[in-house]
Amino acid sequence: MGAAISIDYITHHYPKQKDPTLKDIELTVRPGETIALIGQSGCGKSTLLHMLAGLLIPSEGAVRINGHQVIKPSPRWNMMFQKPSLYPWMTVRRNTSLGLIFQGRRDGMNKRVDALLETVGLADKAEVNVQSLSGGQQQRVALARSLATDPELLLLDEPFSALDAFTKVELQEEVSRLSQERGITVVFVTHDIEEAIAMADRVVVMGSNPGTLKHELTVELPHPRDRAGARFNELKAELMEFFGATRHPAARREDTDATAPDAPEEGSAAAESEPDSESGRRAIRAA
Ligand SMILES: Nc1ncnc2c1ncn2[C@@H]1O[C@H](COP(=O)(O)OP(=O)(O)OP(=O)(O)O)[C@@H](O)[C@H]1O
Ligand SMILES: [Mg+2]
Repeated sequence: MGAAISIDYITHHYPKQKDPTLKDIELTVRPGETIALIGQSGCGKSTLLHMLAGLLIPSEGAVRINGHQVIKPSPRWNMMFQKPSLYPWMTVRRNTSLGLIFQGRRDGMNKRVDALLETVGLADKAEVNVQSLSGGQQQRVALARSLATDPELLLLDEPFSALDAFTKVELQEEVSRLSQERGITVVFVTHDIEEAIAMADRVVVMGSNPGTLKHELTVELPHPRDRAGARFNELKAELMEFFGATRHPAARREDTDATAPDAPEEGSAAAESEPDSESGRRAIRAA
């Protein structure tokens, strides 16, 4: 069963920073749901993800997972970074087993690891050193390791950005399939609009300075998603429009105007404040 997440009005000031990095972030994620976080560089996506992982405590507000306030990391949720962060001197099997070893779950470990390596297409590489693998294969090892402990939540920070286009698509589909099969909740950060539409149930667009949640787009398409399909491309265009709105100079002024945080130009994409039943898109109201 996937984790239920409640992000309750998070504001965050890093020490010595004059302005907050995140402001009034509020979001609820259902068990088994996949959420994409997208936004300009520096808007606070990784900061927010680190808070979900319990690696950083917000200065105000709280993250709750299954009703409990997150104050430290837990083996029930796993974070995967842009680089696979494997131990280069260990084999694929050893790297994949690490989470289970740390948890003292050695019973049936080899069988479990074999099954996972089969799932991610690395059954024949179990005994080789991870250094001899390609970047995409190493990312698969990291994925197998993240799945080995049966997490309720996977947190992914641009996990596929360093991969070639084909490997990227393969792994995106793999993560979607596995998270659905196992009911895992997924929150991932990406700069890739197609990746967001391909994987997410909901895409959340962040604005910057300070980081806020600006728009939300529901992707109602079944998996595996047809990337050439008309609806897929309509949604991509809508997301691009939202993303553009957060980059527009007028939108940036609004970001810093505390008296009118929610008053975009009439007719702009950001002016949509009500749910649109056809596309599921809406602007998120600032607190
Ligand atoms: N440890 C830190 N101390 C002080 N400021 C920090 C720290 N970590 C991040 N920041 C600042 O917080 C802001 C948000 O950083 P964050 O890494 O969350 O952005 P991001 O949206 O993930 O960016 P990117 O897309 O480039 O990865 C940036 O202005 C960054 O300089
Ligand atoms: Mg980041």
